[in-house]
Amino acid sequence: MNGQNPGFLFETKENDFNLMSYKKEVDTCKNCFLGNYRTNTVIGEGKMPSDLMFIGEGPGDQEDREGRPFVGRAGELLTHTLTQLGLKRTEVWITNIIKCRAFDQVDHKKVNRPPRTEEIQACFSFLEREITAVNPRVIVALGSPSSSSLLGKNFKTITQDRGKWFNFKNIKVIPVFHPAYVLRQKGRLYDKTFETFLSDLQEAINGINLKTDTWNLPLFKK
Ligand code: URA
Repeated sequence: MNGQNPGFLFETKENDFNLMSYKKEVDTCKNCFLGNYRTNTVIGEGKMPSDLMFIGEGPGDQEDREGRPFVGRAGELLTHTLTQLGLKRTEVWITNIIKCRAFDQVDHKKVNRPPRTEEIQACFSFLEREITAVNPRVIVALGSPSSSSLLGKNFKTITQDRGKWFNFKNIKVIPVFHPAYVLRQKGRLYDKTFETFLSDLQEAINGINLKTDTWNLPLFKK
């Protein structure tokens, strides 16, 4: 980090990855159309390297304004859940598959939308560089776009595959509900969905120390 603090939540150890120059590169990126409309780019933050890496869909309104991942309502739920499991945000790496907000303009309002394939592809090398630098033992894929962009056709749906173990370039990946999905549930369904989210994150933490060769291989797909 060269002693410089870019104003985000970072705790990095020296490695080949230079966070400041990476951030500058992302800030000047125009690999896709979203680069023309962002307020801020949003790269990952937290601890680098880290055993646990969370990958969400992409910045929303609040993240676009602050230039930090998961700082809106979904982020609050993620932070709260991590706290329940004894973890701080600064002990893990939190990022997204795309670094600029994806939205549609509807009646003069910006409405978030899932990233398109070409946007994910345009941004994927940035994500890969973060993964390499973080060198996680477990990746938690938050929601469907994140899971399918890492796992391709091996991933079917979040309902079918959440809580199961997969493989991305020899890193253990576990798809879980996106916290924004949890927040959209009401009443009893909210409680049930939150419990599932919590136990999937606990499974992710347990997975850090599991050896892949002791696993049920059919679930551990290439
Ligand atoms: N949703 C995401 O997927 N990422 C964020 O950073 C915020 C909300």
